Amino acid sequence: MKRILVIDDDSNLRWVFQKSLEHASYEVDTAANGKEGMELQRRHPYPLIFLDIRLPDYSGLQVIQDLRSASPSTRIIVMTAQDTMQNAIEAMRAGAFDYIAKPFDLDEIEVLATKAFENWRLVEEVQELRSKLSEKKEEMPILIGKSPAIKTVFKMIGKVAASDITVLIEGESGTGKELVARAIHYYSSRKEGPFVAINMAAIPNNLLESELFGHERGAFTGAIQRKEGRFEQASGGTLFLDEIGEMPFELQGKLLRALEQKCVEPLGGEASIPVDVRVISATNADLEQLIQKNRFRSDLFYRLNVISMKLPPLRERKEDLPELVRFFIEKYQKELGASPKEIPSEAMDPLLEYPWPGNIRELENAIKRALILSTDSQLTVQDFPQLKKASTSGENRFENQIREEIENRLCAEWNNKENLYREAVEQIERPLIEAVLKKTHGNQLKAARLLGINRNTLRKKIEELRLKEE
Ligand SMILES: Nc1ncnc2c1ncn2[C@@H]1O[C@H](COP(=O)(O)OP(=O)(O)OP(=O)(O)O)[C@@H](O)[C@H]1O
Ligand SMILES: [Mg+2]
Repeated sequence: MKRILVIDDDSNLRWVFQKSLEHASYEVDTAANGKEGMELQRRHPYPLIFLDIRLPDYSGLQVIQDLRSASPSTRIIVMTAQDTMQNAIEAMRAGAFDYIAKPFDLDEIEVLATKAFENWRLVEEVQELRSKLSEKKEEMPILIGKSPAIKTVFKMIGKVAASDITVLIEGESGTGKELVARAIHYYSSRKEGPFVAINMAAIPNNLLESELFGHERGAFTGAIQRKEGRFEQASGGTLFLDEIGEMPFELQGKLLRALEQKCVEPLGGEASIPVDVRVISATNADLEQLIQKNRFRSDLFYRLNVISMKLPPLRERKEDLPELVRFFIEKYQKELGASPKEIPSEAMDPLLEYPWPGNIRELENAIKRALILSTDSQLTVQDFPQLKKASTSGENRFENQIREEIENRLCAEWNNKENLYREAVEQIERPLIEAVLKKTHGNQLKAARLLGINRNTLRKKIEELRLKEE
């Protein structure tokens, strides 16, 4: 109900106001003096008050201030007997929404009331949106997991959050690098400050410099206004440099200087602007390898890598999968307004077997998709297309192809071999090891890990198969 208070010492006027505004379906209270009006306003603030500026007990301007201090969003329309500019200006300056001069007709009152309520509603809506936004900023990052690997990560978050120490987060895509960065920010003393993320891979190289450091007006064609860079935007908070390995080499020196001097130099300006930011960066590339290839500066690497955190891929912490699955089902059920769905253990087993190369992001998307498409109250293997691909078209198809090839050869050139077993196995081993070494750019340690064999065994194999030169 739209509530209005009328404060006036003239009882006739109060009565007329009450009748006509009630007729226009407002709920109207009245007060004969300032003190009474203040009491009503304090008890339950009104969105709109019509106020006679000349009251027996109160100075008009003072009452405006007091009414508004009880509730800043209250709109006050001042009624003055003498239509003087002076009164009007002072009333507006004291915070009145509008003013009218007596005598006035009742239509005018109604129009003003409508206008005031419209304005009040708009402002309330903006405030509501704003508080929702700031709630969002405050939202606590939820990290699911109980595996030893993820517990180590949680402990690290706790340790590094308190200080401003620079952290480098490494991990495959979708392992939660950004979420961990947000968690560090959330548990730090900078929590109330902004969390600003910038993805080096997502911004074209020629725009990255001004995006990071800002630019002055006229710095280049099209720079019609001064623009704050992300460093300045993050001042007082945390700057998250995502996919730092993708940063152009030429810009890395400028980043290093900014980190060391805690200052940025916007493009096209001379000034050096101090910034107070905590930097967290993330990469899914091997920065040390990029250093060897002269694509990443080693001095910047040491500057960023004061503390490094390695996020485990999902396949190495499968024990967390069931809880993650339930977490995402619940999250998206609410968000999508989907009907309640369960996941029976027959469906959970294949999820546990699948390697999830896209990690938690892939799992999250798979569940979201399944919830949208499934019409049943239970999710089944059919709701996860990647599982089918892995089991039938993946492993089995490979095996079938090989079987076919072997059968063909047994009919022909393999017909009377002496050493078939060794020779055939070698023919699988060679392309397998070659391909894996190529994928790991010749890094034997990584290749051995991927193959699941000992590094010495791999070395021996390389020699045996004479793969050394490559
Ligand atoms: N431990 C976790 N518990 C719950 N949700 C998680 C967890 N880790 C990651 N997520 C969710 O998985 C998704 C991917 O996480 P995030 O974006 O942080 O990963 P990323 O490593 O930055 O990925 P990318 O390399 O693809 O940018 C996000 O929606 C995130 O909320
Ligand atoms: Mg990310």
